Amino acid sequence: MKITKIFGIFLSAIFIFSAVGCGSTATTVAPTLVPPTTVASLITDSGYVIPAQKCVPNCTYKDMVVGFIQTGPEGAWRTANNASFDEFAAQQGITLKVYDAQGKVENQISAFHTFNQDSTVNVIILAADDTKGFDDVLQEAKSTGKLVILEDRTVDSSAALYYTRIGSDFVAEGQKAAAAMCTLLKDFAKKNVVEISGAVGAGAGIDRAKGFRQKMGDCGITITASQTGNWAVADSKAVTEAWLKDAALKDFQGVFAHNDEEALGAIQAIQEAGLKPGVDVMVVGVDATKDGFAALIDATLGADIECNPLLGPQVLEAALKGLNGDTTMPSYVPSQEGEFFAAQGADALKAILPTRKY
Ligand code: AHR
Repeated sequence: MKITKIFGIFLSAIFIFSAVGCGSTATTVAPTLVPPTTVASLITDSGYVIPAQKCVPNCTYKDMVVGFIQTGPEGAWRTANNASFDEFAAQQGITLKVYDAQGKVENQISAFHTFNQDSTVNVIILAADDTKGFDDVLQEAKSTGKLVILEDRTVDSSAALYYTRIGSDFVAEGQKAAAAMCTLLKDFAKKNVVEISGAVGAGAGIDRAKGFRQKMGDCGITITASQTGNWAVADSKAVTEAWLKDAALKDFQGVFAHNDEEALGAIQAIQEAGLKPGVDVMVVGVDATKDGFAALIDATLGADIECNPLLGPQVLEAALKGLNGDTTMPSYVPSQEGEFFAAQGADALKAILPTRKY
């Protein structure tokens, strides 16, 4: 490499000289300078320039110091997500500096800046509370040589600003939820559905809502109300109670909840209003956590679209590839996920439960 560079400079010098040497009376033509060849940057297909690490190409997990910017507490899914990172990092001897943003994107942006300025950190992993606001710190990471990976959540920034995103296809989850709701409402004359959306600004909620709306027309579903449940049981119960008390809004046959905690909140409100979830009102959730499974087994929840939280190993393996300059990493690696129905029956669902880690 170095040799090439010197040769380049030498070439242009000759060119200049030759331009000048032969016939001083000759008209002076501006020499076209051949720019010295730059060190071959490691660039992925999405245009992400992989920051060069001292340990390359033999970086190991022991060389990895990760600044992990987490969303904040959000229920069983997030707890399992955190644990999948903690466990793998402990096994591999990775230094994991976890920052819990308490659900605030402004906290995440300032933590990102802090990790950018932390000379010990070489990898930054972000689970974004919001799709917006990260352009500047992502640019800063380029100049401070931090390898950036998005886990779980999406951001609106260019894919050229991060190595890869590993997580669910939230639009597909929304589409699956609509298809499941169509199945559950097939014998209902009316198909009014209320939506309990995720935390405002979160990519998971935005895309699940988009996917559901892309497919709901297949069976004539109408969304008659939509409000955030902040990924929480209590907030979602309160939202559903308000709808059930509202003369204009109480006529709904389905609830699309963006995660299991929100579905469980809706189920409680429906039961306390004297209605039967799974009979009078069909509820569809997302995540398929243990609590979601329990509600499928007692058929208060009609369907649960899986969202896999166990991303730690895959993300940290990708980070090691990035540290070692692997340019073949795609800009997005989708999680493998399924879906579950109460109609599968309690026994079949109970048989699956022991195999689930969250
Ligand atoms: O981003 C994934 C979502 O975040 C999960 O569906 C939800 O439970 C969590 O809060």
